[in-house]
Amino acid sequence: MIELEHKSPAAAHWSTQQYGGMFANRDSERPERFILVVEEADEVRMETTSGASHRLLAFLVAHRIDNEWELENIVVAAESRRRGVGTRLLREFLDQARAKNGNTIFLEVRQSNHAARALYRKFGFVETGARKGYYPTPPEDAILYRLTFY
Ligand SMILES: CC(C)(COP(=O)(O)OP(=O)(O)OC[C@H]1O[C@@H](n2cnc3c(N)ncnc32)[C@H](O)[C@@H]1OP(=O)(O)O)[C@@H](O)C(=O)NCCC(=O)NCCS
Repeated sequence: MIELEHKSPAAAHWSTQQYGGMFANRDSERPERFILVVEEADEVRMETTSGASHRLLAFLVAHRIDNEWELENIVVAAESRRRGVGTRLLREFLDQARAKNGNTIFLEVRQSNHAARALYRKFGFVETGARKGYYPTPPEDAILYRLTFY
């Protein structure tokens, strides 16, 4: 996941410790999380090693705050984009959030991230505001989006 994130400048960036924390056992201090991944069977490596190995194509991370979910990150490997992988991940996340009585999904995204913004719009997310200079390196405003189920 870290490797994929590093190759995607537009993605949200976290430290190795933050990634580790996501997989730590849940306790009352930690929010409930979804970590969804898409893997691809790697035929070449399967021939040269004894066990099956899979390449990570994409992931999505979200956490719960009461009946709302924050979509924290969604990343698809550059060579796998525009093939519906992001759509699959987002659809699965929305289905699961709804099944857990979630009523709202919210997120923020770099203003210049037209691909992600188009994806969110396609799913019915609406723009709810902006945060000036929210992102560092490079500095940029964040656009806020929200999707309400009912
Ligand atoms: C945003 C991202 C996850 C989309 O994943 P994807 O697998 O390419 O998306 P899909 O193929 O499912 O595309 C779904 C829709 O998103 C929109 N979209 C995706 N890429 C787009 C692009 N480059 N330009 C314009 N619209 C785009 C389109 O509406 C598309 O529907 P269409 O193909 O019918 O036109 C991917 O571009 C990515 O990983 N970007 C880098 C990381 C990132 O920016 N994450 C968001 C952090 S908030």
